[in-house]
Amino acid sequence: MALAEFLAELESLEAAARQSLAAAADASALEAARVEFLGAKSGRLKSVQKQLGTIPGPDKPAAGKRFNEAKLAIEAALTMAQERLERSATQAAAAPFDPTLPGPRPRLGHLHPLTQTIEELKDIMGRLGFTVATGPEIEDERHNFEALNIPASHPARDPLENFYLSVAGVATGEPLLLRSQTSTVQIRVMESTPPPVRIISLGRVYRPDTADATHYPMFHQIEGLLIDRKVTMADLKSVLRLFASSFLGGDVHIRFRPSFFPFTEPSVEVDMSWHDTHAGGAIRWIEMGGAGMVDPHVLRAVGYDPEEVTGFAFGLGVERVCARRHGVSDIREFYRNDVRFLHQF
Ligand code: PHE
Repeated sequence: MALAEFLAELESLEAAARQSLAAAADASALEAARVEFLGAKSGRLKSVQKQLGTIPGPDKPAAGKRFNEAKLAIEAALTMAQERLERSATQAAAAPFDPTLPGPRPRLGHLHPLTQTIEELKDIMGRLGFTVATGPEIEDERHNFEALNIPASHPARDPLENFYLSVAGVATGEPLLLRSQTSTVQIRVMESTPPPVRIISLGRVYRPDTADATHYPMFHQIEGLLIDRKVTMADLKSVLRLFASSFLGGDVHIRFRPSFFPFTEPSVEVDMSWHDTHAGGAIRWIEMGGAGMVDPHVLRAVGYDPEEVTGFAFGLGVERVCARRHGVSDIREFYRNDVRFLHQF
């Protein structure tokens, strides 16, 4: 056989092999193609190989070289076809994509325990007829002190006891400070509304205290104010008792201790008690804040007539009520923002 004829035959054999290997749609079709072209006994490549012997001597090396190339190419095409069939087999075995299944559920956050407490306290006091009032956190001395009957000489006005701002009010030129108590809102409400008044105000207050288990330089207060005809200390006590038992449960007791605030007369410290199960059920008292009957000076300063109306006010620490309710022994936990703590609420 002439070299040219041999090479032409090899060429068309390789093309035919590539085509049927690539077209094999399953394992048995592929096996049939393999036997047809690469079969050891009667494969078509084998019969071409046999013709190598009939090539004239000088052309033999070229024919042999080309034969080997064609053989390697056909074997490579076989491997590719095998891999292609394996890939589609594993894809078919994997679970088919189901677009109707729900997606992975994202982990939802929730409100901070103090925010939850604030919302719940608003609810409880709302049922007792108190509406929510708000005031600014940056205050002037009139609302934080003077209208509350706190004179300039009072130790509570010491610059070291307050966070004064380094800038004064733009319109007034007067000193400004971060409010140290929500009692400021009492004044703002009474200045702008005639009696009767029945409000609560919840928000942040600031004092340069060293942080410890029961103090923090920024904390939250719930302020209450009720002004009407013939309001008495007994009304104050019933409202606080209802408040405490609604939020903390029925086993809570309330204790008033005589105290002093410039804007209430008489004034009391409010303690709440509970049975400490960690201490063998011993009765424990915790100070929740201050309260009292609104001082006539304060009523007069906002234009109310103390002969006509009286009222009570209270200011309690939100962190303390929240900590007491959940058995948290250190209020600093509320501000560490450790999710392992927060996700328990
Ligand atoms: N404002 C007082 C405080 O922060 C608490 C208080 C409020 C006392 C209302 C009496 C009446 O300590």
